[in-house]
Amino acid sequence: MRAEIRSPHSILDKYTALVDISCRLNSEKNFDQLLKLIADEATKHLDAERATIFILDKEKGELWAKIALGVSDTIRFDSRLGVAGAVLIAGKPMIVEDAYKSPLFYPSIDSTTGYHTRNVLSVPLRNPKQEVIGVFQVLNKKDGRFTTEDEHFVLALANQAAVALENSFALSDLETRQQELIQENQHLRKEIEERFTNKSILGTNAKINEVRSVIDKTAETTVSVLITGENGTGKELSARAIHYMSPRRAKPFVAVNCAALPEPLVESELFGIEKGVATGVERRVGRIESANGGTLFLDEIGDLSLTAQAKLLRVLQEREVEWVGGRRPIPVDIRLVAATNKDLKEEIKQNRFRQDLFFRLNVIHIRMPALREIRSDIPLLATYFLRKYSKEIGRDIQGLSQDATKGLMAYHWPGNVRELENEIKRAVVLAAAREIQVQDLSDPIREERLPISDADSPKKNGEKQTLKDRVTTLEIQMIRDAMGQTDSDRRRAAKILGLSHQGLINKLKRYGLED
Ligand SMILES: Nc1ncnc2c1ncn2[C@@H]1O[C@H](COP(=O)(O)OP(=O)(O)OP(=O)(O)O)[C@@H](O)[C@H]1O
Ligand SMILES: [Mg+2]
Repeated sequence: MRAEIRSPHSILDKYTALVDISCRLNSEKNFDQLLKLIADEATKHLDAERATIFILDKEKGELWAKIALGVSDTIRFDSRLGVAGAVLIAGKPMIVEDAYKSPLFYPSIDSTTGYHTRNVLSVPLRNPKQEVIGVFQVLNKKDGRFTTEDEHFVLALANQAAVALENSFALSDLETRQQELIQENQHLRKEIEERFTNKSILGTNAKINEVRSVIDKTAETTVSVLITGENGTGKELSARAIHYMSPRRAKPFVAVNCAALPEPLVESELFGIEKGVATGVERRVGRIESANGGTLFLDEIGDLSLTAQAKLLRVLQEREVEWVGGRRPIPVDIRLVAATNKDLKEEIKQNRFRQDLFFRLNVIHIRMPALREIRSDIPLLATYFLRKYSKEIGRDIQGLSQDATKGLMAYHWPGNVRELENEIKRAVVLAAAREIQVQDLSDPIREERLPISDADSPKKNGEKQTLKDRVTTLEIQMIRDAMGQTDSDRRRAAKILGLSHQGLINKLKRYGLED
């Protein structure tokens, strides 16, 4: 019968210690504690006095003690020095029996710490890529000398320490990155909040002032807002301003373009759909629910089908959504802002829009003026876009020539502010000089600024205009303004201009302004 060896530090104990550490490697989040435990096991099982885990600081070329049992001061030294330095360079374990007799020993650490090193067992720490990242060192075996068995055990511990270290580096990298992301997110959020207030709606015209003031007054509330206006008049810009000025600003702003939703998908997109409603269908949260706590912006609401309108109305009345294939309704808290370029009253007459839904949406109505109604703001908007795009494109364009500004002011802008924005962007790219000239503008604008009547054939750019040219230009401009202000009501426009109704019609014909 074989006698069982039962020393206090038997192989079984060491094995148990290694298994225990392995288990902790997977669960322990406090890596320093784990490293300390590893160092502890080393001194305990080797019956030694001290254990230190040195990490290589590659940039500085130094070794520093991450864990140093029995040492109060921080230790840091040139990574080429001492037994640890030699192990680092050789990449192999080393046992030094009498420290002060070894040429490798670096006594100045002893003099700083006041410790007396007698013998040393030092092994390299390797990461999974087998790169040496530090040194594991055990000092002063109390009885006798360090053995090969001790060396094997410390090597096994060193492997585990290396894994713990790598994990701790990865974790701290992750934490740093997460902190950076949190900060970046806060920064971006603040930037967005600042960008989308009613101050982002530029213009000093009374109609624009009114838009800003209504937004200001309704932002604090949760009432529904309907924004109408032609294409490119800033409906979405206003919707964002409402959201980012409201107490909901930290919650989502979800914009849905109803016109872009294919009919079969409208309901699942808006209300959500349960998995397996049809073969291959995955579970999908609806857009309404994803706006929970925030603002739902339904753009082009005039294009929503009657079925979807009925369901939307239900959501607004009950404040809950029912998923397609869902078992029970989910409560939602949304603020609704809707926009359209259609005349909803006309749509109601044609039975294409539900009147009850209209009343729900139209609690507050904001009408975005067409750009031709607010011509006085054209220079301001143009300058704003000019600065924006010069910076973005990287061209040093200083401004617009007087003629170019006049051209912009005379044009009728069917595409409104968006068209103006694109026009300026184009001109910034094309401009030959540091000032945008009339010839940098696109054809329709250049042509429209010149009189159209037979007698006044278009003049070439730069040629002097006659008094008659100028009067005609002014006349066209004033007629356009009056038509803009009155939504093309010819009788009211004629009154503003001091003309008879027929007189205005004649001029409209003569200048080709009938539409
Ligand atoms: N008053 C304004 N001040 C500054 N920028 C404006 C203004 N009005 C509109 N814009 C800009 O014009 C562009 C078009 O605006 P927006 O998309 O809000 O218009 P829209 O009415 O929603 O257009 P559409 O009907 O085509 O969807 C955007 O780049 C917007 O920033
Ligand atoms: Mg829009």
